[in-house]
Formats: sequence, structure tokens, C-alpha cells
Amino acid sequence: MPDHRATESFEDALTDTPSRRAFLAYASGALSLVIGGLLAIPLVGFVLAPVFRPRKSRWVQLGHVADLPRGIPTKLVYSYPTTDGWLSKVARGTVYALTEDGKSYTVLSNLCPHAGCGVRWDEQKEYFQCPCHDGRFDRHGKVTGGPPPHGLKEFAHKVEGGSLLVELEEGA
Ligand code: FES
Repeated sequence: MPDHRATESFEDALTDTPSRRAFLAYASGALSLVIGGLLAIPLVGFVLAPVFRPRKSRWVQLGHVADLPRGIPTKLVYSYPTTDGWLSKVARGTVYALTEDGKSYTVLSNLCPHAGCGVRWDEQKEYFQCPCHDGRFDRHGKVTGGPPPHGLKEFAHKVEGGSLLVELEEGA
């Protein structure tokens, strides 16, 4: 008498049942997702790293508050030594400082928020003017004309020992 059990199990092995096909499809899909996810980790880390990296800032001396005229935005140029990898360099920039009463101060960026051009205080017209697209700002940095979407950036600052210091992000 022939053994039918051995024949059936051999036929079962050759048969590709729908459930087995579905399992293999799910398994290969899941494996692709896992591999894709693993390959994406470095890219996601590269993109998100700056968001979570603590920002370094420093206090930079601008000058003596006694030298600031009242009511007139005054251009102040700063510089400080910094490093970029192995490279030592000097970071330089410009801000405008304003005091109305000799007690409280406003320190404004000179960079236009529209496209980053350097604005200039016009003493005759009494407004900041941007040379690129004629953006205009009042003495407190508020937009009064042109395309800039908002006013000039205001920096944190403090007075120590008669000197005005501004807080800048590293590399600013
Ligand atoms: S860059 Fe200043 S108005 Fe466009």
C-alpha cells in the first residue's frame, strides 16, 4: 500500500498558497521599511541637529554709553576673535544703538529683514533706509515703508562699568 502522506506533504511544499504569498509580501515590505528607516537616520540627524544644538552666544563690548548722543541712532562697529574649526578669525559687524534718556537703550541690527542688505541711518530724513529695495524704518527699528516684513532685529544688551555690551550669537 503506497504512503499518501509523503506525497501530500511534497505537493503542499510546492503549492504557493495565498496566505503564504501575503505573508512574504508583508515581510518584504516590512524589511524595506526597516532598511529605509535605518538609512534615513543619518539624514534626519543631519537636518535636525542644528535645531537641538544649544546656541552659543557671547557678550561683546560696543563702547562707552557716555559717548552716545541722545535721540540719534548711532552706528557702532564691533569685532571679536573667534574660531571656525582650525581657523582663527575676527568676526565683525555693525549695530545701531539708541538712547532717549541716557538710562535705557535699544540696540538694533543693521541688517534689513527683507533680504539682508545693510541699512543706514539718514540724519537728514530721520529714518533708516535700505539701499536694496527702499525699505524704511523709524529710529526704533519699526517698518515705515517698503517691502520688509517686520522691523529691525533688536539685540539683548546690558550696561556694565559705563560700557554698553550686546549679546550676539557665535559667528554673528
Ligand atoms: S533688502 Fe531691504 S528692502 Fe529689500
